[in-house]
Amino acid sequence: MHDLSTAPTGSTPLPLLEYTPQVAAQTAAVYQRLDQVIPEIEWPVHAPYIAEIERLKKERGAIILAHNYQTPEIFHGVADLSGDSLALARLASETDAETIVLCGVHFMAETAKILNPEKTVLIPDLRAGCSLAESITGADVRLLRERYPGVPVVTYVNTSAEVKAETDICCTSANAVEVVESLGVERVIFLPDEYLGQYVASQTDVELILWQGHCEVHERFTAAEVRAYRAGNEGVIVLAHPECPQDVLAEADYVGSTSGMIGFVGDRQPNKVVMITECSMSDNVAVEHPDVEFVRPCNLCPHMKRITLPKILHSLQTMNYPVEVDPSVSARARRSVERMLEVGRGAGR
Ligand code: 13P
Ligand code: SF4
Repeated sequence: MHDLSTAPTGSTPLPLLEYTPQVAAQTAAVYQRLDQVIPEIEWPVHAPYIAEIERLKKERGAIILAHNYQTPEIFHGVADLSGDSLALARLASETDAETIVLCGVHFMAETAKILNPEKTVLIPDLRAGCSLAESITGADVRLLRERYPGVPVVTYVNTSAEVKAETDICCTSANAVEVVESLGVERVIFLPDEYLGQYVASQTDVELILWQGHCEVHERFTAAEVRAYRAGNEGVIVLAHPECPQDVLAEADYVGSTSGMIGFVGDRQPNKVVMITECSMSDNVAVEHPDVEFVRPCNLCPHMKRITLPKILHSLQTMNYPVEVDPSVSARARRSVERMLEVGRGAGR
């Protein structure tokens, strides 16, 4: 497991950049899209970083991949491509860019590196971890295999490379049911998210042996809270991430990955929606759908929020922090991630 406590922080003080008329002109079109989610008074702080990051990423031949939970000034301001964990893994496997700056958490950058061992993968702050990834080690998986001989191991991508290396196949919240069923067996060990596992078990006849890992952001939502959103917002459509506890998911109209929720809003255009997931999602989706009203509960992922514009700029300036994976671990982890990507391709996704 990674010891993120001693990792470089990416918090080196940076000089404040000046909001010049040139920067204002250069970033005006971006701000026009973001004016309902970023107050005007904040723009002079973000805009110089956006302008400089845009310049430097071209100079470096770098591409910025951002998860759906990144803040709007990152997601809409500097990201070249964005998506859920599955999309980020796919995009990382397809890019021609020599350098990938991953704006998300460490396991996402590590997955990009596993798929691109010869490329430079940077994460702007190495401390951007994940409570699910921290909940299990490679040694734990080996013990489970001893306890359940011959039972295949399906691992959520929210894990370290070391855990992926001990795994038969990875999955994300977007494809977990499909991956579990692709194995054609009656029983699988499903790690480490207990709530995602319970959700998958409710959707398939395959028996799942679960671990007790939880997402510290999604486990905080309660069924009573969701009922209160319904009571206070007539006609509101409830979308929930499968990392939420079962009783919360039972209150939802739709359960899906972050991109699944975005797709739901795009396809159905509900009048009013509440996304039971991390805070920044609603802001990012609201930018694309100004006619949809968003009820905005706010549970922040402190790890995702470690990534900021100044740190992204610092990352491009100094080429820090490169994500490295031991080659023997990487080769085995890659097999599990590639198997997952093959399942998706087989289904024509
Ligand atoms: P998605 O794959 O749905 O984007 O989820 C990733 C994650 O970390 C959710 O907390
Ligand atoms: Fe991990 Fe939860 Fe943060 Fe996603 S929201 S990165 S699962 S801690």
